Amino acid sequence: MSFIKLWIAILLLCATNIIGQEVENTKALKINQFGIYDTDLLPASFHKKNREKLRSFMPNNSVAVFFSSPVKNRSNDVDFQYHQDPNFYYLTGLREPHSILILLKTPVDINGEQTNEVLFVQPKDESKEIWTGKRIGKIGAELLLEVETALDNTTFNAIDFNFEEFDQVFHFPLATDIKDNPFDKSDLNNLCLQFGAKLSKTEPDKINQSKPFEWLNRLREIKTEEELVLMRKAIAITCEAQIELIKALEPNMTEFQSEAIIEYIFKSNGAEYPGFPSILGSGENSCVLHYNTNRKTMTGDNLLVSDVGAEYHGYTADVTRTIPVNGTFSQEQKIIYDIVLKAQEAGIKKCKEGNSFWDPNIAATSVVSQELQKLGIIKSPIGVRKYFMHGTSHYLGLDVHDVGTYLPLKVNSVITVEPGIYIPEGSPCDKKWWNIGVRIEDDVLITSDKPEVLSDCIPKTTNEIEKLMKEPSVFNRKNK
Ligand code: GLY
Ligand code: MN
Repeated sequence: MSFIKLWIAILLLCATNIIGQEVENTKALKINQFGIYDTDLLPASFHKKNREKLRSFMPNNSVAVFFSSPVKNRSNDVDFQYHQDPNFYYLTGLREPHSILILLKTPVDINGEQTNEVLFVQPKDESKEIWTGKRIGKIGAELLLEVETALDNTTFNAIDFNFEEFDQVFHFPLATDIKDNPFDKSDLNNLCLQFGAKLSKTEPDKINQSKPFEWLNRLREIKTEEELVLMRKAIAITCEAQIELIKALEPNMTEFQSEAIIEYIFKSNGAEYPGFPSILGSGENSCVLHYNTNRKTMTGDNLLVSDVGAEYHGYTADVTRTIPVNGTFSQEQKIIYDIVLKAQEAGIKKCKEGNSFWDPNIAATSVVSQELQKLGIIKSPIGVRKYFMHGTSHYLGLDVHDVGTYLPLKVNSVITVEPGIYIPEGSPCDKKWWNIGVRIEDDVLITSDKPEVLSDCIPKTTNEIEKLMKEPSVFNRKNK
C-alpha cells in the first residue's frame, strides 16, 4: 500500500474515529462506506494467507491471474443473485463481480510501486451503487481485504503490464457464458477480452491452465479452524431446519411447504441462501436423485427425502434425512431404511486419515449389495448400481461438491457419507418395494483420531425419527 493510500485510509477511519473505539468505528465504517454488515466473515488474514500459500507453489518469474464469477442473466434485464467464484473468494474475500486478481511470484513495478499482488475492482460510483448497492472500491479493498495493491478495473486495459516477460502465466480457462454490458467498458466480458489481447504476445507453451486447479484443489481440501467455524455454523443451522421439518411434517403438506420450513430456518439464522437447490422429494420423487421442483402434495404413505444445506458466509452444509410423512415407517420402508443406515455406519467408520477417499464408498456399497441380495431385490453384486447409482462421498466446503485431490483422506478435510437405495415404480422386484427411496447423509470431519460426524445433532434411527415426529412444531397445522 503506498503512503498516499495509507493516508486516505487513515483519514477515512478518522472520519468516524474516536481514539479507543477502533473496533466500533471499523464496524461503522464497514457499514457506512462499504455496506458490509456481517461481523463474522473470514478475516482478511485468511485470504492473504491463501494468496501466500498459492504464491509458494508458483515457480520463479511467474504470474497467476484469476477472474471473479460472471453475473448470470435470468431473463431480459434481470440477473440471478450474484455468487462469487469460490476460488476467487478463497483468495480475496471479495464478493463483487467484474474483478481480477493478479498474483506475482516476486514483486514488479506497477504504477511506480513494487507489488506482488493487484486486485482490480469495480470503481466506487454513486450512480451505479444506488441500483446495485455499495462497492468496496480500491480503498476498501486495500483496507478491508488487505491486498497489497487495489486498482479500479477501469485502469486494467491501460496498465503497463507485459505478460510475455514472465516464464509462465497461470490462469483458469476463461468463462464462456459472460454477458456483455454494452454500457460498461470494464465489465467482465471486456476485462477478459483485454486480458486476451495482453496475453496474445505470450508464447502458448508458457500459458498453463491446469496448475491453478491442482493448487487450489490441494489447498481447499484442508479446512483451517476459521473455515471450520463457518462450516459448523452452516451445519448447525441445517440440523435445526431438518429437526423442525421432522416435527412439522404431516400428510397433505406440499413438498414446497416443507422446503419453505427448511429455508425459513436457514434465512432466519443468517444463512445467506441454500448451498444448492433444496431437494424435497416424496413418494415417487424420493427416487429422483436431484429432484428440486418440489411441487407434489405428500400423502401419508410417502417417504420424504430431505436433502438440504444452508450456506453460511460461503460455506455449505449438505445433510439428508428420509422421513415417513405420516409419522411411521411401513415395514418395507423400515427394512430399506435400516440397510441404508447400516451402509452409512460402515462408510463413516472408514473416514480415517490415510484411508483411500473411496473406502467409505466401497464399505457402504458392499453392505447395500449384500442386503439387497438377501431380500432378493438383486440377484448378484453387479446389480447394486441399479438401486444405488451414485457415489457415497464428496468433499464439502465453499462448494457443495467441493474440490479436493481424491488422494488418501487428510485431517481437517470434510466429506459427506450418503448412501441411498432408490426403487422406482416398475423396477424388476416385488411391487411392495416400489417408490421407496431412502438416502441418509452426514457431514464428516476427518481427524487424526475417530471421524467427527458434524451433523449428528439430527436424529437418524427410525425410532428416533418417529419419536421426534410426535413433537409439536410452530409450523404444524394440526394439533399433535
Ligand atoms: N446434496 C446433493 C448432492 O450431494 O448431490
Ligand atoms: Mn451430498
